[in-house]
Amino acid sequence: MNIAVITGASSGLGAEFTRAVAEQNDVDEIWVVARRKERLEELAKECAPAHVRPVPMDLTDRKSFTELKKMLEEERANIQILINNAGYCSCGLFEDMSEKDIDMMIDLDIKAMTLVNRVCIPYMNKGSYAVIVGSVSSFVPVVGQAVYSAAKAYARFHGQALRAELKKKGINVMVLSPGNMDTEMNVRGGDGEKAGRLPYLSLKKITRTSLKQASAGKGFYTPGWFYKGYRIVSKIVPHAMMIKATEGMF
Ligand SMILES: NC(=O)c1ccc[n+]([C@@H]2O[C@H](COP(=O)([O-])OP(=O)(O)OC[C@H]3O[C@@H](n4cnc5c(N)ncnc54)[C@H](OP(=O)(O)O)[C@@H]3O)[C@@H](O)[C@H]2O)c1
Repeated sequence: MNIAVITGASSGLGAEFTRAVAEQNDVDEIWVVARRKERLEELAKECAPAHVRPVPMDLTDRKSFTELKKMLEEERANIQILINNAGYCSCGLFEDMSEKDIDMMIDLDIKAMTLVNRVCIPYMNKGSYAVIVGSVSSFVPVVGQAVYSAAKAYARFHGQALRAELKKKGINVMVLSPGNMDTEMNVRGGDGEKAGRLPYLSLKKITRTSLKQASAGKGFYTPGWFYKGYRIVSKIVPHAMMIKATEGMF
């Protein structure tokens, strides 16, 4: 059975990715992973006649990976599209951050993202692709995001290395690095006032373009001219100078 696997599909970018894959109508089933089962069920109804299968699981629980592997094995799944998207962000000074928040970012943004790839890649074949959702926060260490920006830098390095490893198998890996998006994580006009000064991106546009870019073999996608510009600047200006410029914000 040809499937797509989308993590963090119960809201925001992951839910929009599910709608985008459903529109394409080129897989037999879309497996949507997150903790909130009812949200996944609503999404499945919304996307009909596409077959969306809710897979409610907590990706910070190691047992989830055994369960996911068993499901893939039993269904003889061929993963054509993997959207490795589930993520968590807590901003603020490191000293004020709770251990729970730190754990969540490391367990979800680093460990779970890596293990999703580990479990899913053996079920991918020539012509299939994976999108790893990173962030513009990975371009330069971000003051006030000492854990999140480091976790997303891990995701970027991981994705780029994996891309090179999987090239010979005809599997593409693309790192998507978005800036602000109006989701539960970063509600426009919410408490992300500082971030809110920067432009917000269209979920609809990002998801559709990401699918096109990843299927065409692209390795890196930064949506929006503002953030593309930031990426270029981050490659030219020494990071120490860029960090200095943001020091006073927190
Ligand atoms: N929003 C932004 O401005 C922004 C910018 C750059 C990058 N990103 C990245 O974009 C990705 C999507 O985030 P979003 O903005 O769409 O945020 P969101 O609306 O908060 O979505 C996060 C998703 O992750 C799932 N999730 C959280 N903890 C989980 C767990 N333990 N196990 C399984 N699933 C879990 C959530 O579902 P449940 O709660 O139901 O489990 C939800 O579906 C993340 O990787 C984020 O870092 C976001």
